[in-house]
Amino acid sequence: MKKPIIAGNWKMNKTNADTKALITELIPLVKDAECEVVCCVPFTDIVTARKAARGTNIKIGAQNVHWAEKGAFTGEISAEMLKELKVTYVITGHSERRQYFAETDETVNKRTKAALAAGLKVIVCVGETLAERESNKTAEVVTRQTIGALADISKQDLKRIVIAYEPVWAIGTGRTATAQDANDTIKIIRRVVRKLYGRASANSLRIQYGGSMNPKNAAELMAMPQIDGGLIGGASLKAEDFAKVVNYNK
Ligand code: 13P
Repeated sequence: MKKPIIAGNWKMNKTNADTKALITELIPLVKDAECEVVCCVPFTDIVTARKAARGTNIKIGAQNVHWAEKGAFTGEISAEMLKELKVTYVITGHSERRQYFAETDETVNKRTKAALAAGLKVIVCVGETLAERESNKTAEVVTRQTIGALADISKQDLKRIVIAYEPVWAIGTGRTATAQDANDTIKIIRRVVRKLYGRASANSLRIQYGGSMNPKNAAELMAMPQIDGGLIGGASLKAEDFAKVVNYNK
């Protein structure tokens, strides 16, 4: 059985003081969760988050990583730096990175490989824009993004990858993909992975849904056979809301 994974993506929210308060409030609320619980925090909050979550079932992740080992890349963070801070996960290819920071399938792949090489687990995001969906390009886009992100990644390393399907039009808009639509697109993504790695690897890969997932719709989304977790933005910023998503089955 795959263990579902519910991850919060805090984006550019929360100071160190906020981080300590939020994690502390979250700990008792999620301690009996049956899924894996992750908080992907800003780089500057990692140390505080790790310290606050020590000895609990909350794992800490980062939101981006550079592909080079070191060097003249002002403003970037290497996989080694993250590893030293003992983060478990890192997100790559988030649509906000693709949209505002010129992230491409190639750079997403490079970042993913660097993270894997350092021993980290990676949440790789894919998803179509509204214009792409309206011109019936969803399958084409998620196929291209999935193949691109996974280029040159071994079957062994795939075990440390989670894919997050996040339709861009559902992010921060309050507009969720219907559970059926999310399930159908995730099925397409899984089929791509099956072609690349075989049935067993595709079936054991966890694929999350992300985009306005919240306490109200989490149970319905998580009940879909293809959906193995959630990547939560807005609703991960309040302990009570995030805990309700984490405890979707209770
Ligand atoms: P929202 O849950 O705020 O729509 O954000 C989703 C997301 O982008 C998570 O990575």
